[in-house]
Amino acid sequence: MIINGCSALVTGGASGLGLATATALHAAGAHVVLLDLPGAPGEAIADRLNAGAGAAAHVPAGSSASTTVVPRDPAAPINPGTSHPRAQFVPGDVTSAGDVQAAVDAAVLLGPLRIVVNCAGIAPGARTVGRDGPMPLADFDRAIRINLVGTFNVTRLAAAAMMKTAPVGDPARQGAAERGVIVNTASVAAFDGQIGQAAYAASKGGVAAMTLPLAREFAPSFIRVMTIAPGTFDTPMLQGLPTAVRDSLGAQVPHPSRLGDPAEYASLVRHIVDNPMLNGETIRLDGAIRMQPK
Ligand SMILES: NC(=O)c1ccc[n+]([C@@H]2O[C@H](COP(=O)([O-])OP(=O)(O)OC[C@H]3O[C@@H](n4cnc5c(N)ncnc54)[C@H](O)[C@@H]3O)[C@@H](O)[C@H]2O)c1
Repeated sequence: MIINGCSALVTGGASGLGLATATALHAAGAHVVLLDLPGAPGEAIADRLNAGAGAAAHVPAGSSASTTVVPRDPAAPINPGTSHPRAQFVPGDVTSAGDVQAAVDAAVLLGPLRIVVNCAGIAPGARTVGRDGPMPLADFDRAIRINLVGTFNVTRLAAAAMMKTAPVGDPARQGAAERGVIVNTASVAAFDGQIGQAAYAASKGGVAAMTLPLAREFAPSFIRVMTIAPGTFDTPMLQGLPTAVRDSLGAQVPHPSRLGDPAEYASLVRHIVDNPMLNGETIRLDGAIRMQPK
């Protein structure tokens, strides 16, 4: 699917993998709504994107300057070519129905919502039975609530909006009518969770497990659902760790032997959007790492 002229909703868009994705989609000509917590620097990021980064790449849909002909979407409420800012921050919590609906509504106002990337998440680590006794149930609950319920909350509300858009198709590809793509973020912990990752692994395992049923359900609506399971990426989530621990994590990756660059995650998102045969699958993006028990 062609990114230029689409509206994209990126959760966790003010940091790490989400920020890299929002930047890449914006550079490819998308209208981008960043949904992140109210304390996140989303406003400054949106201002920066609107001030120039990626702006030159935007070609109004249907323009003769575009390399591929993009069918005009009658559902598009905006007039491409206006000075309407293409990036917008909507503060909110992915677990809140109202906050997420507000972000979806903002994205729909910018253009036809066709791309959703769920990057909001937390990575708590604690043993199930630690030195102070059993893990508080609320801690397990919080990981599931943000990582799994939050991802589902965004998916259900965004998919409902996507279903109202007119399908588009690349004339060069037969049978390629599409309405949109939802990309969720799991983790290699969904498959090889370490000691202390019971809650995190359960939340990410849920994200991976719901990929196929969602893809099957949305197929008649021409909406694809994919999940990326990153290994270890150099984002603020890991930047809080001591340098020695980060170096050691990077060294454990067989090849390339380093932490992943968030731009590499964003590059896979772009490929998933572009490639209509990718659907209902979880892709590990991990340099062949298999996490050890601890
Ligand atoms: N960095 C890695 O090595 C790695 C590896 C595997 C999976 N992941 C997953 O990738 C995703 C992005 O991680 P990252 O490394 O970019 O982390 P990050 O901490 O840099 O970014 C996460 C963003 O999510 C936001 N967020 C957290 N809770 C939220 C909520 N309830 N509502 C809205 N926004 C919320 C945070 O404010 C933050 O901006 C997460 O789901 C994480 O579990 C990361």
